[in-house]
Amino acid sequence: MTALTLSTAAAPGLRADAIVIGVAKAAKGPVVAPGAEAVDKAYDGRLAAVLETLGASGAEGEVTKLPAPAGFKAPLVVAVGLGGEPEEDASFDPEALRKAAGAAARALTGAKKAAFALPVTDAGDVGAIAEGVLLGAYSFDTYKDNGGGKAKNGKAPLGDAVLLGTRTRDAAHKGALARAVAVCEELNRARDLINMPPNDLTPEAFAAIASSAGKQHGLKVQVLDEKALVKGGYGGILGVGGGSAATPRLVKLSYTHSKADKHLAFVGKGITYDSGGISLKPAGHNETMKCDMSGAAAVFAAVVAAARLGLEVNVTGWLALAENMPSGTAVRPGDVLRMYSGKTVEVLNTDAEGRLVLADALWAASQEAPDAIVDVATLTGAMMLALGSRTFGIMANDDAFRTTVHEAAEEVGEPAWPMPLPEHLRKGMESPTADIANMGERMGGGLVAGLFLREFVGEGITWAHLDIAGPAFNEGGPFGYTPKGGTGTAVRTLVRLAELTAAGDLG
Ligand code: BES
Ligand code: MN
Ligand code: ZN
Repeated sequence: MTALTLSTAAAPGLRADAIVIGVAKAAKGPVVAPGAEAVDKAYDGRLAAVLETLGASGAEGEVTKLPAPAGFKAPLVVAVGLGGEPEEDASFDPEALRKAAGAAARALTGAKKAAFALPVTDAGDVGAIAEGVLLGAYSFDTYKDNGGGKAKNGKAPLGDAVLLGTRTRDAAHKGALARAVAVCEELNRARDLINMPPNDLTPEAFAAIASSAGKQHGLKVQVLDEKALVKGGYGGILGVGGGSAATPRLVKLSYTHSKADKHLAFVGKGITYDSGGISLKPAGHNETMKCDMSGAAAVFAAVVAAARLGLEVNVTGWLALAENMPSGTAVRPGDVLRMYSGKTVEVLNTDAEGRLVLADALWAASQEAPDAIVDVATLTGAMMLALGSRTFGIMANDDAFRTTVHEAAEEVGEPAWPMPLPEHLRKGMESPTADIANMGERMGGGLVAGLFLREFVGEGITWAHLDIAGPAFNEGGPFGYTPKGGTGTAVRTLVRLAELTAAGDLG
């Protein structure tokens, strides 16, 4: 991964392949953002005019390359759009900095070293720029034949990034950088897992990776294999996993802090491949279904990040891992499963499998009576239709907690939106044979799924459900700090929630 350093060095004397500067978008045209004064000066104060001549406007995501001015050791200036003008206190929205740093890092693929002279007013900005660089420079090349860490065009991701205008001796700056590195390394690992092909990332392989990385960071790891799941009565996970030659797993990752007085449980949907099962998905709907374990990847990353940050809170992660395949041993539409909670579920559609594995994991998480449970799942196409491909939906059994989760998401720059759990939709899941069916009305399908999950949360436990079906996997081109493929969405929201809980701010 790209290596970051803090520095107060002046841009002109810096040996690097490029200097990155920010450009704000104003009514009168592009404006050079604070941090790039030395570059502007070397252009005789005409840098904004030069940029305008080159067609730059300062729009979000815009990247303009120009030769560095005479006297600079670096040969290239990369001007990146910040979107808008600064706030009244001359600061920029951290998300604008994050996106700009990400776009610049992507434009610098192949470069060995770049200096970032973006506007920094506080430690929050240092963290945002660091995150943008680390997340934007991500690439997944494990399966490229030209391998060896090279990107698809044969170029390696940006090597070193020096963040100018930041101080190594400033504890807040240093802390912000360390936090960004811990969170982004784990987030990028989640992206790797999502991008891994499903023939390699089986439930067993995922469990093994989570187990070794978890232990490496001091977590307690328990893996229930098929035999243990049968013994424990995990009918939901077994039902979904029963059609695959790759057997299911339930992984429990526990991070504990000796001074913690709060306990959070994170639960992730980990369908390593969702073919739909006997209710098989048609072509056109299954090509990206390796991403159906994105919730489990996010939970895994967040628990490890919480451990690396040493947060004063206990966090338990539950990964419900199974492959949904059609076969002679697969669950059929019409089958009734006895879930871990004891409830029975009539499976009407084997493609509504996520709620079945989550139901068991939610019930397992509930047995420890945590202060709150948050589940993360690529659960419904309906949520994608409702909110598009960049925003996840938040449902909860507690209005205040739903707001807390939404605010945490906004704070870290993850687009999210609150969704309701309308009681009248419960009726559609009534089953003539079992306690509940795994499908209800088609309209509001994302909310129906949320209502199903709610039934498997222990009495009195605060719970929120993040349906990340839209933003989990980017099928379009890269933007900001978001690459094509697995995005790692929800990791930063979960980490923020753990931080807020540790600080006693959960409400
Ligand atoms: N994994 C899918 C949801 C999904 C769709 C995620 C598109 C990412 C992109 C989920 O298991 C599913 O198939 N849901 C069904 C539920 C339906 C059968 C009630 C759906 O949304 O169609
Ligand atoms: Mn499905
Ligand atoms: Zn699924």
